[in-house]
Amino acid sequence: METTVSVIKADVGSVAGHVTPHQEQLELARNMLEEAKNEETIKSFYVTHCGDDVELIMTHHKGVDNPAIHGLAWDTFTEITEKVSDRLKLYASGQDLLKDAFSGNIKGMGPGVAEMEFTERKSDPIVVFMADKTEPGAWNLALYNIFANPFNTAGLVIDPRLHQGFSFTVLDIQEDKEVILRCPAEIYSLLALIGTPGRYVIKEVRRNDDNEIAASASTTRLSLIAGRYVGKDDPVLVVRAQSGLPAMGEILEAFSFPYIVAGWMRGSHHGPLIPVSERNARVTRFDGPPRVIALGFQVTQGELIGPVDLFDDPAFDYTRIKGMEIAEYVRRHGPFMPHRLGPEEMEYTTLPLVLDKLKDRFKSTS
Ligand code: F6R
Ligand code: MG
Ligand code: MG
Repeated sequence: METTVSVIKADVGSVAGHVTPHQEQLELARNMLEEAKNEETIKSFYVTHCGDDVELIMTHHKGVDNPAIHGLAWDTFTEITEKVSDRLKLYASGQDLLKDAFSGNIKGMGPGVAEMEFTERKSDPIVVFMADKTEPGAWNLALYNIFANPFNTAGLVIDPRLHQGFSFTVLDIQEDKEVILRCPAEIYSLLALIGTPGRYVIKEVRRNDDNEIAASASTTRLSLIAGRYVGKDDPVLVVRAQSGLPAMGEILEAFSFPYIVAGWMRGSHHGPLIPVSERNARVTRFDGPPRVIALGFQVTQGELIGPVDLFDDPAFDYTRIKGMEIAEYVRRHGPFMPHRLGPEEMEYTTLPLVLDKLKDRFKSTS
């Protein structure tokens, strides 16, 4: 039997600004998913948060894009908004619920979705990455390192089962088109695209040998749905590990470098992506810095066994310190690029409203 892992997340309001959800929101989500488990809609679940986003990690046997699963997530976020966020006047209540009526698929409605379906191997370890204050393209560099860079992933060189490489599905979020690039042969073409993470986003990675699914990421761009600024998309990512796929340690290694992503304050600044433990998944300094948590599980007969809080380890202290040095350095640029995003990406922020006001004051110089 095939098992599906569905990770669906939304920011439906938070405490003390865009910092962290309220415990009551998480409890309500747990109660609703417990009920869905008893009714056998899902097989198991884990509820957590990263920054101000509520994260629903679920397993079931219904496949990807299933209306019952998407409907459950939608109802959960709606109930949280109505029963908790509104009542407690939490900040930006219901923020990511951009559409009114649910019609079978939650994609395109605001919440982020990463799903994959697979036949369980003898033993199936996975890791769920969840980020706050950044965009879906933030996974590009890590996914490249995990599945295409032999300097990160030793298995690409020394394990014959990885030796044929991996294929990347890259989405052009502006044109709503996608392309599959087979690596290592097409590494240069892949990099030509994904080096522009604001436009080209890796959606899925599969093993060349047998087309086995290896990674699946959320690709929602809230601003493109709403046509205005609604915070960054705070993406999620599911990666399978071991036995002919990158080892868990090779996957985590990609986050040992606090690379620069877009997001942070007002979704308008570049800053380092910092790996943190689940208990440190709150955003503070300048509404950030952008951060990522990693929870490891075994998927066993459709159930989640775990989690293991994988970044809760002194082995990532150096990355965190380095990340804060980078944060300190870029912050000193204040409103100047390249700390502030370039004009194209600022288009969906509130900056154009400010620039508009100045328009009529410009006089011709010729
Ligand atoms: C970024 C984010 C925050 C807000 C900022 C201003 O994704 O959510 O950085 O953009 O706190 O929020 P408002 O405009 O709601 O005061
Ligand atoms: Mg928020
Ligand atoms: Mg968020």
